[in-house]
Amino acid sequence: MKSHSKTAQFAAAHRAYHFKSCFPPILDDDAAEWLLSSPLSTILNVALLRWLFWRPLVAKVKPISTFIVIRSRYTEDNLRYFISNGCRQYVILGAGLDSWALRHDDAAVFELDHPETQQWKKKRIRSRLGSLPSHLILIPVNFETESVTDALIGHGFDPLSSAFLSCLGTICYLSYEALKKTFAALSEVCASDSRVVFDYFQPKSSMSSPDLQLFELLDAGGRRRGEPINTLLSTEDTARLLNSFGFRIIEDLSAHEITERYLSQRKDGLNIPGFVRLCCVEKWSDN
Ligand SMILES: C[S@@+](CC[C@H](N)C(=O)[O-])C[C@H]1O[C@@H](n2cnc3c(N)ncnc32)[C@H](O)[C@@H]1O
Repeated sequence: MKSHSKTAQFAAAHRAYHFKSCFPPILDDDAAEWLLSSPLSTILNVALLRWLFWRPLVAKVKPISTFIVIRSRYTEDNLRYFISNGCRQYVILGAGLDSWALRHDDAAVFELDHPETQQWKKKRIRSRLGSLPSHLILIPVNFETESVTDALIGHGFDPLSSAFLSCLGTICYLSYEALKKTFAALSEVCASDSRVVFDYFQPKSSMSSPDLQLFELLDAGGRRRGEPINTLLSTEDTARLLNSFGFRIIEDLSAHEITERYLSQRKDGLNIPGFVRLCCVEKWSDN
């Protein structure tokens, strides 16, 4: 990645658009819009511009757009439960324009992201709020080349207290080596009972033909912007990888199960691609 992440901008734009145009919203992300800069923020803020420019773009990738919103909602559902049980550390890997820390202040939030993307976000927060919220700790790190353990320990993360972690829309952009290194680091640095929520995409060979078309569209867009998709995982590979680093799977939801949980009561026909999964894992107790 040569400049700040465009896929992070698009993900935030999908959350902002959903919040403005779907009722009831699946996720109340009212900060996504102001985190974006012009022209995206202007397009999303003005109803006519939204209709003219963003709506046709969303129409092409509607299931992906809906999944981007749901993966954050799933994470926040789990996170709220964990915080209500006393957790005070939230780590976001590949944070992009995630806005949890700008909407809640009941836990320290450690945001790890590619330096360019994080610098861009820091400027946006400063220009809107004047300074960073005191509970938000921004840690620039490239998962391909740098150590997540050093990054967290060097910025006040407490390895003896349990933590909640998320990694959304990021695993597919990492090399398999970086993914393994990242989970090895989390295993080393997280207290037992800590939880990690992440999403991943299944291999192309398991995709239906409409899903494959959607995936190719997404990948082509990422490639054009210097963010190609690198890692797809089967459920078996995911379980093996996580187990080898001392995590047990609490749930690994299929697209069907995600639909049942978040979309079955809705009347607006929202749907998600069949190749997505949402996984929640827990660090095994050492004793
Ligand atoms: C699609 S965005 C997702 C952002 C956010 N989690 C969300 O759901 O909106 C992917 C994120 O992964 C980050 N990322 C990709 N490769 C990375 C790397 N090698 N090291 C650190 N961050 C990386 C990008 O900077 C970007 O913020």
